[in-house]
Amino acid sequence: MDRIVVEGGHRLNGRIAISGAKNSALKLMAAALLTDEKLVLTQMPRLADTRFLAHLLARLGMSVEEGPGAQMQLHAAEIAETYAPYDLVRKMRASFNVLGPLVAREGRAKVSLPGGCAIGARPVDLHLKGLEALGAQIELSEGYVTATAPKGGLIGGEVDLPFASVGATEHIMMAAALARGETVIDNAAREPEIADLADMLTEMGALVEGAGSSTIRIQGAERLHGGTHAVVADRIETATYALAIAAAGGDTMLEGARWEHNKVLWRAMMDAGVTVEPVEGGVRVARNGSHIKGTDIETQPYPGFPTDAQAQFMALMTLAEGTSVIRETIFENRFMHAPELARLGADITVHGNEAVVRGVDRLKGAPVMATDLRASVSLVIAGLAAEGETVVNRVYHLDRGFERLESKLANCGAKIVRETESAD
Ligand code: UD1
Repeated sequence: MDRIVVEGGHRLNGRIAISGAKNSALKLMAAALLTDEKLVLTQMPRLADTRFLAHLLARLGMSVEEGPGAQMQLHAAEIAETYAPYDLVRKMRASFNVLGPLVAREGRAKVSLPGGCAIGARPVDLHLKGLEALGAQIELSEGYVTATAPKGGLIGGEVDLPFASVGATEHIMMAAALARGETVIDNAAREPEIADLADMLTEMGALVEGAGSSTIRIQGAERLHGGTHAVVADRIETATYALAIAAAGGDTMLEGARWEHNKVLWRAMMDAGVTVEPVEGGVRVARNGSHIKGTDIETQPYPGFPTDAQAQFMALMTLAEGTSVIRETIFENRFMHAPELARLGADITVHGNEAVVRGVDRLKGAPVMATDLRASVSLVIAGLAAEGETVVNRVYHLDRGFERLESKLANCGAKIVRETESAD
């Protein structure tokens, strides 16, 4: 099993290219099931998660090829299979999103429930409620969902989400793109990944209006087309490197980062005393000698502070002057990084969904264990700022969502290497 070894205390100076967003790419890939024409995605991140979904899509009959550069070509001329087994869904929650496109195109699909997840229960009731509103009949049995469309296919409907779920909004949008008539989603999620999907579905021939607001209207098409679409820049990767630069010190340009997609984070970082500014072609982040000030945050659906950057922000706050309170409102059980950060000398007390971080003068490197994707990268951030060597074990979590993490950081002066442990 691989591990990452970081020698702390080196500033990050230079440029880091931001990849396409994992959370967008996975949904765009699933949407390729909606058409029998070829869909080309550019700015695709190369990640364990995208490879994994490609494997599932291939099982369903899609040809998936990685093209030159960051391109992926997806072509589901025919659907060979409308069944997604437990083995292929349990490992990655986004796989569940094949249900809607399959039932929209083929009239019926059987997909395993995604099961629990390390950061909380993560149910899918809202996804199913949405598909029902489009006329699908849903049956749950032995851990599987079977969805059946009425004769003649799904029909546009109205869905009022009790929580602005990203996954459910995307799932309903995909199914509605091939439904007859209009679908209206109220209290829709507003994340940039939703707008990205809306743009692609519109390019494919559906009419999607209001993405980015709380009400989305989708006019379904009888047939959708292929095309070429560039995946939006990853705002979570952007946040992660921004917080790494803040923790390690230095002055680095995040190339391709979208300033407007992280406004609440930038505000919190400025409050903490970090320089952040939009520049031509990206975002500049710098901290040279100034102290970090304790700053409170609370995770919220977009445009609020992203839950996916909470662990990384906590890593920065471990070194702040004063105390910060970090409240997690999206997922229960998302503070698993706190005890690992404590191994480096951080002072963190967790009470329910609130963590109180008392800043310390310095962290000291230690062996730590990655527990989930974003938690593991928070340990890398802390390691960059710590004295001595930090060894992050179980880095397969990192590979799920970060493309070439070590080389992107090493190119800016970090001392970071991957070690592959032999089997014995
Ligand atoms: C969440 C994040 C998203 C992030 C993604 C990947 C939010 C609001 N969403 O999206 O920004 O990119 O993780 O890490 O920050 N829920 C239900 N029933 C459902 C679906 C969700 O009750 O059918 C609840 C969950 O229990 C949880 C919340 O909604 O409390 C999560 O929201 P959701 O946006 O659906 O999660 P993801 O799509 O995984």
